[in-house]
Amino acid sequence: MIKLKKNIPLIDQHDKHGFWGGKFGGSFIPETLRKPIDDLTVKFEKLRKDKKFLAERDYYYNNWVHKGPTPFIKLENLTNHLGGARIYAKVVSAARGGAHKIYGAITAAMLCKKMNKRYLVTDTGAGYNGKMFSIAAKHFGLKCKVFMGHKDYLRQQPNVDAMKKNGAEVVPVYTGSQTLVDAVSEVMRYWVSNHEKVHLGVGSTVSANIFVKICGWSTAQISRELKKQMIDEFGKIPKKVKLLNCVGGGSSAYGLWSEFMDYDKRQISFEGIEAGGPKNSKKHAAPLSNNSKIGVLHGAAQMVCQDKFGQISETESISAGLDYPGVSPLHCFLKEAGRANYVSQTDEDALSAYKLIRKLENKINPSLEPSHAFARAIAIAPKLSKNTIIIVNSCGDALKDKHIIKKRLGKY
Ligand SMILES: Cc1ncc(COP(=O)(O)O)c(C=O)c1O
Repeated sequence: MIKLKKNIPLIDQHDKHGFWGGKFGGSFIPETLRKPIDDLTVKFEKLRKDKKFLAERDYYYNNWVHKGPTPFIKLENLTNHLGGARIYAKVVSAARGGAHKIYGAITAAMLCKKMNKRYLVTDTGAGYNGKMFSIAAKHFGLKCKVFMGHKDYLRQQPNVDAMKKNGAEVVPVYTGSQTLVDAVSEVMRYWVSNHEKVHLGVGSTVSANIFVKICGWSTAQISRELKKQMIDEFGKIPKKVKLLNCVGGGSSAYGLWSEFMDYDKRQISFEGIEAGGPKNSKKHAAPLSNNSKIGVLHGAAQMVCQDKFGQISETESISAGLDYPGVSPLHCFLKEAGRANYVSQTDEDALSAYKLIRKLENKINPSLEPSHAFARAIAIAPKLSKNTIIIVNSCGDALKDKHIIKKRLGKY
């Protein structure tokens, strides 16, 4: 049984080969990337202890992303409607650009400058990571190129338009399923030949060890804020809290949970909600809740949807941001260590949750990714007592999904 250590951020609990729990993560990279990855590792480890770098990061995270922390609000009407547990939202979608991906994008832009590079590249699924990189690149005077599966390019048009408006080059990827998995493969291929001038920022806590760490280090801001907000709201950390988060690659979930890792799970429990796909389909994007097997994808060992020959299976989800066959090694570790629990909700569940939230609550407009987590909150809240606090990370705004929602629900 693998175990969490106390007082050490989970991103740092890997062995000298980069594996969490001795088997998840690592750095399965081509030989040509060894040096650029080593250089990035040395630079990041130095900068994360550098007071000036941290002060700059804090300025951006605390003022520029949002004036002060993103809101933490009670969903009073939803709570009254369902009965049972009290439901709250951490409204990360209020961050500049509309999602948590802004934190990783700022870190990537700051690192890019420190590495004396002027070109930022990344992957995107829902388009939010690409949008945030385009915002950060524009602000820091960098060039930006975003790889995006063609299927996502078509279904997340508002974010594609935003990236282009900010001056980024958006490269549609036509290989494979034309979704996030192919975008990540393509950006890595591009980086292999261009690493001397180009800085790669990965959009989630996936890929080789150092990218998992940089992304998790960035999104951890969410739980730093939440911890203070919970103390302001309740006077202390309450006795029974459930932190619910959708999981694609796993960066927003890690961000929501990281400050609470050391709490007893009977006090603060974590639930990750993966994409169960369409109700009547066998396809999904839920490796952890479907007990998938371990495999290597995008430079890291992880649980991954695969067939009996080890070939990556095609995934399906209404949510481009969750439509990924693998998952962060951090979440594989948390599942195996018994610290977090993972379930899935279907496309239809997410749409119904979105509909109910929009009917009852006017302060949030969760995109289809967090709507999966809200679906879980809606399912469990009535069975729990009002002493239980459910907090859902409303990590993205639904504007990018307006065409899908209009088509499926008749109106946006
Ligand atoms: C709004 C939103 N939520 C969640 C995700 C899933 O990614 P992660 O699990 O890394 O937070 C994405 C990915 O694009 C997203 O845009």
